[in-house]
Amino acid sequence: MAILVTGCAGYVGAIASKLLLEAGYEVIGIDNLSRAKQNNLVDGIEFYQACISDEKILETIVAKHNIEAVLHFAAFIEVAESVEKPGLYKENNYIKTTVLVDKLIQLGIKNMIFSSTAAVYGLPIMDIALKEDAELKPINPYGENKLAVERYLELKSKEEDFKYIALRYFNVAGAYGDYGEAHEPESHIIPIALDALLGHREIFKLFGRDYNTADGTAVRDYVHVVDLCKAHIAALELFKSGKGINQAYNLGYNKGFSVLQIVRSIEKVTGQEIPLEYSDRRAGDPDHLVADNTKAIAAGFFKPERASIDRIIEDALKHRKKFHANR
Ligand SMILES: NC(=O)c1ccc[n+]([C@@H]2O[C@H](COP(=O)([O-])OP(=O)(O)OC[C@H]3O[C@@H](n4cnc5c(N)ncnc54)[C@H](O)[C@@H]3O)[C@@H](O)[C@H]2O)c1
Repeated sequence: MAILVTGCAGYVGAIASKLLLEAGYEVIGIDNLSRAKQNNLVDGIEFYQACISDEKILETIVAKHNIEAVLHFAAFIEVAESVEKPGLYKENNYIKTTVLVDKLIQLGIKNMIFSSTAAVYGLPIMDIALKEDAELKPINPYGENKLAVERYLELKSKEEDFKYIALRYFNVAGAYGDYGEAHEPESHIIPIALDALLGHREIFKLFGRDYNTADGTAVRDYVHVVDLCKAHIAALELFKSGKGINQAYNLGYNKGFSVLQIVRSIEKVTGQEIPLEYSDRRAGDPDHLVADNTKAIAAGFFKPERASIDRIIEDALKHRKKFHANR
């Protein structure tokens, strides 16, 4: 049986592809390389450079391979860009996904795991860990289009012979060997802070110290990319039993770290100081986003085995050094 991985050249898609291969799956990857580089492709996958909405390529893939399920990672992921270009995010992340889903259904592919996000929750009022039934009120086009996809999948699961699982990631971080965060431009704090430390960036700009949190900087839940990808592979089993499908799950560790705590943790792990400058907070950034992960753990597919911020930083640091050495 084969798994189709969309966005296979991206950060999470490449690591999921590697772990799927190691678990014995055949991996078919699609990526249009709009946001990633060919050299991030994992050896051993069968790669198609194409858009997810390319119906002819989807027909070719399904004719050639026995696709059991689709892991749908492909998307644009920059919140700020989505505010500037809402039409681009609607087209790439929502419309193209509906084309993909409709075509898969027509071709008889029945199972999809979708990369959703904590951005579907919007601005939580309370600083408690979010459960999946918290209010869904996204505040930017990135979150709105992810939620629109969740709703489309729900509709299709009712109308058609089609099943889905939506995994709402909090902040994915860390690395797996040669594969790690390589977004361009990079907007995630751990690689940016590491770059300031490694001399690839002059300063680490910390946005906002007036958040309603203990040290005034925004609190997020960082989940190790390997635990996250392994959860996808384990969740494939749910399609076989039919239990726990057609719904959303949070993937996070139920533990928040402020931006300042991340900076201090990196300094502790490396023994070096990060050049730091405070800047104004960015519009639309919630004070506190932490996952209640009870549901995913109880469903049996999520095992927080790498839930240590030091471990995440150590793995990210090793990768970041290699990333710069190979550029
Ligand atoms: N990284 C995180 O912290 C995080 C958090 C929440 C959710 N997510 C979601 O996880 C998924 C993966 O994120 P990532 O960090 O690996 O992003 P990424 O940018 O590294 O990878 C996305 C990949 O999708 C490809 N792509 C984009 N649009 C495409 C299209 N129309 N057709 C074919 N390929 C296309 C890009 O070229 C890229 O390789 C995304 O859906 C993202 O929204 C990520």
